[in-house]
Amino acid sequence: MNTTLAFDVYGTLIDTNGVQVLLEKFIPNKANIFSQTWRDKQLEYSFRRGHMQNYVGFEVCTSQALEYTCKFHDVDLSDEQKKELMAIYAVLPSFSDVKIALKRLKEKGFRIFAFSNGKKEAVEKLLVHAGIRDLFLDVVSVDDIKTFKPSPGAYAYFLRQAEAKSHEAWLISSNPFDVTGSISAGMNSAWIQRSPKAIFDPWEIQPTFTTNSLLDLAEKLND
Ligand code: LAC
Repeated sequence: MNTTLAFDVYGTLIDTNGVQVLLEKFIPNKANIFSQTWRDKQLEYSFRRGHMQNYVGFEVCTSQALEYTCKFHDVDLSDEQKKELMAIYAVLPSFSDVKIALKRLKEKGFRIFAFSNGKKEAVEKLLVHAGIRDLFLDVVSVDDIKTFKPSPGAYAYFLRQAEAKSHEAWLISSNPFDVTGSISAGMNSAWIQRSPKAIFDPWEIQPTFTTNSLLDLAEKLND
């Protein structure tokens, strides 16, 4: 059977920089730090919810993190502005290397999936909007099992849905926690370093492959 690739969505395939652009319009002086806190809190909430086994959808983690971030940075956004910030998540574009790299990987015979904390319907819409949905065999969402990455159950669920064996599957992600989580669950994993400032955790678990471009991955990965 051909090798299976599970692509993380937000930050790996989909460029979340659009959130930053909107924030710069609303709060020019604090956009950068605000967006960093928002992303960190969103992930922290998903990790805590997973641990507590008190699941809510990823979009709830995102919107509760937005409320927290407004309080933390003492920023008074209107309900309308908050709505706009949440709505932009549905229309963010893909990174420029995504389409061509996925096409190459597909030609090479890889089985390509999207695998996200986001709800299936939301991810489907996002990929359609970005014009890349047809490159994936399917979209797998952890929402089906009411937990979040990096729970080992999330990766096991992906493998079951994709009908893949862990050693014949790769998780491709810009999120270090996703890379260590998938390797810990027995998969191979590529870390896509989307920013030169991104740091990989100095753990005993390191990526199977590291690159800053999906095109490089598409060239070097062989089925
Ligand atoms: C996802 C987040 C973690 O798409 O980026 O799963």
